[in-house]
Amino acid sequence: MLRIRDLTAADIDRVAQLEQGEPSAWNSVDIRRELDQPEGFRLVAVEESGGGIVGWCCSRSLETEAELLKITVLDRCRRRGVASALLACLKGRLVGKGVRTLFLEVRSHNDPAFQLYRRDGFAEVGRRRRYYSSPEDDALIMSREIAGA
Ligand SMILES: CC(C)(COP(=O)(O)OP(=O)(O)OC[C@H]1O[C@@H](n2cnc3c(N)ncnc32)[C@H](O)[C@@H]1OP(=O)(O)O)[C@@H](O)C(=O)NCCC(=O)NCCS
Repeated sequence: MLRIRDLTAADIDRVAQLEQGEPSAWNSVDIRRELDQPEGFRLVAVEESGGGIVGWCCSRSLETEAELLKITVLDRCRRRGVASALLACLKGRLVGKGVRTLFLEVRSHNDPAFQLYRRDGFAEVGRRRRYYSSPEDDALIMSREIAGA
């Protein structure tokens, strides 16, 4: 069974491991910095049958708008609904704080993520040319209304 809970300082190294090898991966310093953000949510997905942390996500918000900053699922646990469960929990938390619109940026060549967001109801609202490096890529900006969804 999958459980979504808040990330704690004790999870940082495990989450940094999970990030390793991904494009624009965050390291433990990046993750620890998010723990200090008062307007942020940081969630981990835990497989209760001994699998440990299999995914995580984080966001920051300002009044009625929020941005999804990261969502990563352990390679071998993909296509099992982990990211969808994280997103569902995050949206619930954000709505509870009065957030109405959730934004995100995604590499234009990141098809798994793009498909995840499209299926979740996000629409493309802009593009930043050559926004990413290593490898170079455009950023697609996507958003969706979450209040009352
Ligand atoms: C993108 C990512 C978070 C998706 O995580 P996941 O747990 O596999 O996603 P889910 O199982 O919840 O997938 C939900 C839906 O998204 C779409 N989707 C997810 N991965 C997909 C893929 N590889 N190809 C096509 N569609 C995909 C499908 O519609 C899927 O539903 P289905 O499995 O019933 O067809 C994961 O691939 C990942 O960690 N990638 C590396 C990090 C990354 O790119 N993060 C996003 C940065 S913006």
